[in-house]
Amino acid sequence: MSNDLLRDISQFGLVQQLGVPRIPVLRRHEPGAPLLDGPALVGAVGAGRFAEPVRALLKAAGIADAGDEGKLAAVVLDASAVRTIDELAEVQQFLTPTMRRLQPCGRVLLIAPEPDDTDPEAAAVAHAFDGLIRSIGKELRAGATANLLVTAPHTDPAALDPSVRFFLSGRSAYVDGQVVHVTQPVGEPVDPAPVDDPALVDKPLAGRIAAVTGAARGIGAAVAETLARDGATVVAIDVPAAGEALAKVANRIGGTALQLDITAPDAPQRLVTHLKERYGRVDVVVHNAGITRDKLLANMDADRWNAVLAVNLRAQLAINAALGDVLSSTGRIVCVASTSGIAGNRGQTNYAASKAGVIGMVRALAPQLAERGVTINAVAPGFIETEMTAKMPLGTREAGRRINSLRQGGLPVDVAETIGWLARAENGGVTGQTVRVCGQSLLGA
Ligand SMILES: NC(=O)c1ccc[n+]([C@@H]2O[C@H](COP(=O)([O-])OP(=O)(O)OC[C@H]3O[C@@H](n4cnc5c(N)ncnc54)[C@H](O)[C@@H]3O)[C@@H](O)[C@H]2O)c1
Repeated sequence: MSNDLLRDISQFGLVQQLGVPRIPVLRRHEPGAPLLDGPALVGAVGAGRFAEPVRALLKAAGIADAGDEGKLAAVVLDASAVRTIDELAEVQQFLTPTMRRLQPCGRVLLIAPEPDDTDPEAAAVAHAFDGLIRSIGKELRAGATANLLVTAPHTDPAALDPSVRFFLSGRSAYVDGQVVHVTQPVGEPVDPAPVDDPALVDKPLAGRIAAVTGAARGIGAAVAETLARDGATVVAIDVPAAGEALAKVANRIGGTALQLDITAPDAPQRLVTHLKERYGRVDVVVHNAGITRDKLLANMDADRWNAVLAVNLRAQLAINAALGDVLSSTGRIVCVASTSGIAGNRGQTNYAASKAGVIGMVRALAPQLAERGVTINAVAPGFIETEMTAKMPLGTREAGRRINSLRQGGLPVDVAETIGWLARAENGGVTGQTVRVCGQSLLGA
């Protein structure tokens, strides 16, 4: 049964009987689409350094200033200078009147300070934004989202540019309630494409070489397609048994196909040799290949445990260790984790351990890679409509779709767009982090 059909059934059958509200249609990025589909309001509490650059970005992108009345496609508040409970009250006073003005699929984007551990009130107030943004995400309706960018005192405003563009645009449709830390970019600064040139804005990955594992189907195929749409040349990798589907993906996007079982002992070296011989380098590595072998721990055998750890974690570690000089000086590694690795999941001790392991690997490698100008991050998908989730029993599947703020499952493209944001050369300020693509799922919240 196709995902579309399942969605139709869920929308008009079971769901209607249960009296569950209609599923909002999310605003997703289309090439040529404007950053926002309406006016935006940009404010600041205190002497934040980010409001002016955001205003300039929106002006250049042709987004009207909303003023005091009328609908809002987005509200951006620079609260990076807020340090006291009184100033936090000003944040509330700014935001409250904007909530009712937010149009469907609107965006709330807050910019907050990094906690200052030397000042208890400032540290408490900085952390208060976590609770604030997560609650706004849960209050918003009709496909609107709320996300938080946390900035250090020395963060250059330009470092926020790729993240502001991502979170305001339709590319972040299924990313909700997330807290992303933006620091001074690693490596040489890279200027983002001018926002007033649609040709360049739509090709943020032009000239970049990307390797994507597990690219024959599901999320991996969407990642390959999305990175190629955005200008990258893609090496699509999957097991030989998926060779036919892999070739189709590679042909469709004008990339190359590499049949490779990433758990084979010589896999890292074969991948590096392929990249060196074909392109001389790689700019983006997406560790997407993953498997499940679910069993309660009481019934778990070593084969199931080891197979999952081998594909989902050991292969990523081995490939990262082998990349060496083939990874360019604006290298971006993006690893696919899972909300199961954050929340845990019954029957998935092996899978959750492997995915939590990915999050740990990313944290450990980020400082080491930063010295070379390279970032490494993870995305943690929640419920995404793929063959993997289509195999779930109907009840579990329907529950998985519903228990998030956007009241629906995500699409593979939602994960792909998030990976595309982390893959940009100019996005050197986001590293060592795990960004959930889960519509603010209650699991692991
Ligand atoms: N679908 C979801 O809801 C969801 C949620 C959270 C995380 N994820 C993660 O997203 C990633 C993609 O998931 P999906 O739903 O698209 O899965 P999928 O099963 O549809 O696709 C996975 C791909 O990886 C390939 N693969 C498996 N083992 C491999 C190996 N040893 N070498 C090379 N390729 C290999 C498979 O052949 C397949 O093409 C996985 O890491 C998965 O754990 C998915």
